[in-house]
Order: sequence, then structure tokens, then C-alpha cells
Amino acid sequence: MNTTQFGKQGWTPDRIGSLKGKTYVITGTTSGTGFEAARILLSKGAKVVMLNRNTKKSEDTITALKQELDNDIDVSNIQMDLAAQDSVRKAAEEVLKTVPQIDALLLNAAIAQVPKQTFTVDGFESQMGVNHYGNFLLQGLLYPRIEESNGRIVTVGSMGYNLGIKTVQFDDMNWDKNYSPNSVYSQSKLAQIMTVYELQDRLKKAGKTNVKAYACHPGASRTSLIKTSGGLMTRFVWQLMKWSPFVQSAEKGAYPELMCATEPDLDQSGFYGPTGRNYWTGPVGECKLEPHAKDKPVMERLWEVSEKTTNLKWNI
Ligand SMILES: NC(=O)c1ccc[n+]([C@@H]2O[C@H](COP(=O)([O-])OP(=O)(O)OC[C@H]3O[C@@H](n4cnc5c(N)ncnc54)[C@H](OP(=O)(O)O)[C@@H]3O)[C@@H](O)[C@H]2O)c1
Repeated sequence: MNTTQFGKQGWTPDRIGSLKGKTYVITGTTSGTGFEAARILLSKGAKVVMLNRNTKKSEDTITALKQELDNDIDVSNIQMDLAAQDSVRKAAEEVLKTVPQIDALLLNAAIAQVPKQTFTVDGFESQMGVNHYGNFLLQGLLYPRIEESNGRIVTVGSMGYNLGIKTVQFDDMNWDKNYSPNSVYSQSKLAQIMTVYELQDRLKKAGKTNVKAYACHPGASRTSLIKTSGGLMTRFVWQLMKWSPFVQSAEKGAYPELMCATEPDLDQSGFYGPTGRNYWTGPVGECKLEPHAKDKPVMERLWEVSEKTTNLKWNI
């Protein structure tokens, strides 16, 4: 068994004390790791503001959480579809109006393995549009409140960052020439992770040590990810794999994002997740990050392209 910086067990939510007075904003809590992360944060006394696209599913989620925890938990939903930049802007405006403090923003929601090239309403390839541009815009818009709160931004990436082309395809960001479900998912997850490390550099340059940004991944976890957006064959294969010992529970998949949201003095330069074989399961701690994820010229250019594409100037 691996030993992590948190011992043989790795990081677990037992390390979280009372979260009374803390507020967490989290995307994609209707299933999977997002649901589990919200549940654990609420169970420790935190206030949780969920940003979900489907209002009915959100209401059901709130009912389920209240049934399991307590009727008095402080949980609410603001409707937001990461696939529509207008929706992200509207939701961020609502958050800024109604949520006075953000101790951490957990960028958890994503889609994966979309079988054919499809586009968001803004004309972005869908996996890049939801996973990268949607999240880029959201964190940029909420940044001022996170800064006021001395808060954190936690990005849920994927080991997929290390598959695919391992750089950013700047000359064809919509993948018109060579679309493949897996390569583009990998691209979107690499872009998300690069944004974290570029943000760290920009914060450091601006002397803003009060805001922290973290990148993590949930390993291979039993969630709805492939079922929601993947093609028939990928769904079938994943369905079989899901119950193998190589795949862990959604709850365990939530630990890395919870750790990044709550663990004091966690080194920002790391990439966190399960540390077992292939980084799919195992005790949660720091995982090896391949150098292409911190390729500085690519990170800088991606940031500029993303600001331009989302029509957002981050105010750092
Ligand atoms: N499961 C794994 O093995 C694995 C591996 C590597 C990385 N990850 C990452 O882990 C994170 C959580 O995924 P998961 O595995 O827990 O999957 P999941 O069960 O499918 O949960 C994804 C969540 O994201 C939401 N979502 C999807 N598209 C959205 C949009 N356009 N706007 C707002 N919300 C949206 C979903 O809402 P709906 O209910 O409305 O669909 C759902 O709540 C993702 O970032 C994923 O890339 C997962």
C-alpha cells in the first residue's frame, strides 16, 4: 500500500473539523462526486450553494440530502448551465448578489466522451465549452467574492489530462479536423488543470497570497459521467468496469476535491487524487504530474485565448 503525506489511509474527511460558518459553492451535485462532496460538507455544518443545470434534479437532490442529514441543513440551488455562457453569467450574478462569502468554489461538473462533435449555444465544441470555457468564465466572475473571502478555487480534473495530444490545439479549438471523444475530453481536462497553475502564477505575481487554487482528480469512480454523455459502446464498457475492483465509490472520488477545499496548508503546486495503481483508486494524496500540464507558454496562451473567447477580463 502507498503511503501519502496523510499516512497509509491517505486523506479522508475525518480530517475535516466543524465547517460551521463556512460556505462552499459547488457545481454538478445531482450525482456522482459532486453529490457526495456536497453531502459531506453539509454533514460537517457548512452552507452549500449548488450550481446545477436541471432544477427538478436539484430539488430531488435537496430532498435526498435533507432526508439523509437533517431538515435544517443550509443548502440551496442556483440554476446554471455550463454549456451556455449567458446562463453562467446569470448564475454568477445571482451568487454575487446572494452569497456574501465563498470559502471555496468547487468546479466539479463536467461532461465526458461525447461521441460526436456537437456545439454549445455559443458555438464551442461541447466538451471544451462545458468543461473548460464554462468553468473558466464561472471562476473569473466569482473571483472577486472568493478574494474577499480569502477563499479557494478547486478544479476537478482527470488523469485524462495525460492522454490525448498533451498540449492545446490552438489552431483548431473546436476540433473540426480530428474530433475524437477521448482526445477532446482529455484536452478539456488538460485545459482545466493548466488554468489552475496559470492562475497560481498570476496570483503570486499580483501578491495575492490570500487566494488559493488547487487541481485534483477523482481517479476512476462509480458515477453517472459516462452514462450521461458517453456513446453506446463507451457506456457498455464502462458499465462492466464500474463494478470491478479498479473502480471506487463516488464517495471516495469526492475526497480529493474535499481535501483541496478544506485541508489547511496544502501545497498548491501538487495534483491530488487517489495514489494507487494508475491513480484510479487508493489512498488520497499527491499524484505525479507530467510536465506538459505546466508548459508555461501553452498555459499563458490558453489563458489569453480563454479570456478572449469568454469575453472576460480577470480582475487579479
Ligand atoms: N467518474 C470518474 O471516474 C471520473 C474520472 C475522471 C474525472 N472525473 C471528473 O469528476 C467530475 C465529476 O464527475 P462525475 O464522475 O461525478 O460525473 P456525474 O455523476 O455525471 O456528475 C456530473 C455532474 O455535472 C453536471 N453537469 C453536466 N453538464 C453540466 C452543465 N452543462 N452545466 C451544469 N452542470 C452540468 C451533471 O448534471 P446533470 O445531472 O444535469 O447531468 C452532474 O451533476 C467531473 O469533472 C469529471 O470530469 C470523473
